[in-house]
Amino acid sequence: MNLTLKVWRQKNTSDKGGFVTYSVEGISEDMSFLEMFDVLNERLVAKGEEPVAFDHDCREGICGMCSMFINGRAHGPNKGTTTCQLHMRFFRDGDTITVEPWRAKGFPVIKDLVVDRTAFDRIIASGGFVSVSTGNPKDANNIPIPKPDADDAFAAAACIGCGACVASCKNSSAMLFVSAKISQLALLPQGQVERRQRALNMVAKMDEEGFGNCTLTGSCEVACPKEISILNIARMNREFMLANLLE
Ligand code: SF4
Ligand code: FES
Repeated sequence: MNLTLKVWRQKNTSDKGGFVTYSVEGISEDMSFLEMFDVLNERLVAKGEEPVAFDHDCREGICGMCSMFINGRAHGPNKGTTTCQLHMRFFRDGDTITVEPWRAKGFPVIKDLVVDRTAFDRIIASGGFVSVSTGNPKDANNIPIPKPDADDAFAAAACIGCGACVASCKNSSAMLFVSAKISQLALLPQGQVERRQRALNMVAKMDEEGFGNCTLTGSCEVACPKEISILNIARMNREFMLANLLE
């Protein structure tokens, strides 16, 4: 495949940045999107040019690092797919592909396609944990959990913290991410000890970090590569209201 890439290049956070166009020839349709970028970068380095900075780690859909807009869609055109799991066979020979970083106040661009997502780490540090002493690992059947709760907690725990929900939301709301983290613990016995304080602290931290509010457009759910349900936001709002009443 021969492609034209329009890639956002930005030297640092304060640089204005802009699109640079590259022709990339001889791309196999079996390559992943990131492998295609590896080829581009090898060629740029061979020419003595600066390679495109982009984030990646696991390359198998579990770390949440490979965040970028591809043709205006977070993680590209395929539903429920991270950029690292997107393959070039979903594009056509001769395509022009536009690639941009996440754009949100809470995620400042560090360089090119790399953004600073440490705001998410700070939200997790404010309450996304359990501090009960669990002792040695117990047999799974020692703590009976209703199947629907286990299923919902497991689905919420699938969030990989990629930030596509924020970047796709017109309000840059982090509510899908935060609600997934609150839900996975609120639904399980292990998460009950700090349940109320967790909801208060994580919501307060989310606001402090500059993320916007939810106006129910649902774009976060559509963009999420792990298909986290927007119902988690309803649960988070319930948790937050109860915590305010009871704390
Ligand atoms: S809710 Fe989905 S889109 Fe948002 S951070 Fe988690 S996995 Fe990414
Ligand atoms: S590189 Fe880890 S999810 Fe894509």
